[in-house]
Amino acid sequence: MQQSQILRNLFLFAALSSMAVVVLGVCDSCQTNNVACLNETHYRFCGDNVAPNQVAQCPTGQVCTNLSIICMDEGLYDASCSDTAADGSCPSCDGTTMFVCTSRTTFQQCNGTSLLSQVTYCKDNKICSINSGKYCVDLCEAGDSIECDRTTPLA
Ligand SMILES: *[C@@H]1O[C@H](CO)[C@@H](O)[C@H](O)[C@H]1NC(C)=O
Ligand SMILES: *[C@@H]1O[C@H](CO)[C@@H](O)[C@H](O)[C@H]1NC(C)=O
Ligand SMILES: *[C@@H]1O[C@H](CO)[C@@H](O)[C@H](O)[C@H]1NC(C)=O
Repeated sequence: MQQSQILRNLFLFAALSSMAVVVLGVCDSCQTNNVACLNETHYRFCGDNVAPNQVAQCPTGQVCTNLSIICMDEGLYDASCSDTAADGSCPSCDGTTMFVCTSRTTFQQCNGTSLLSQVTYCKDNKICSINSGKYCVDLCEAGDSIECDRTTPLA
């Protein structure tokens, strides 16, 4: 391969990787403060020297942020991983579709323009994708089109 081709491939790879980060949002992704926020209030540690899979919780009224103090009073700073941040991006039942994604990993059936309450879950590591016709797909297959970028369905 010529050097220019190698460089182009590297560039493509870098561009795609940075897109993937955007797609995943900042939930469960290690931040510069060495924690990954799992939702508005819970986080895990990322440092090499900390045993993995330990979940900690912010004090009541505080949210997990990318600041070095990690937890900050709600309303003073944006939570890194929040359900409400992505509220506008989830589809609603508009009468033309039988199912809608109600979080990254769940979908629900529509009855006309109303949403039925039963929640159906995708398998582990799958992302809800009604547009695909398969209900749930691999993250790479979903590409940059996550239909409902929320951690859990609204009640
Ligand atoms: C946040 O995530 C933690 C750990 O996964 C979980 O125990 C907790 O119930 C979640 N809180 C909300 C509000 O979803
Ligand atoms: C921290 O989060 C804020 C608000 O979400 C964002 O504007 C900022 O770019 C983030 N900083 C870093 C270092 O990720
Ligand atoms: C769907 O909506 C119709 C009309 O509002 C109602 O009669 C019916 O019971 C609903 N079906 C379900 C499964 O909720």
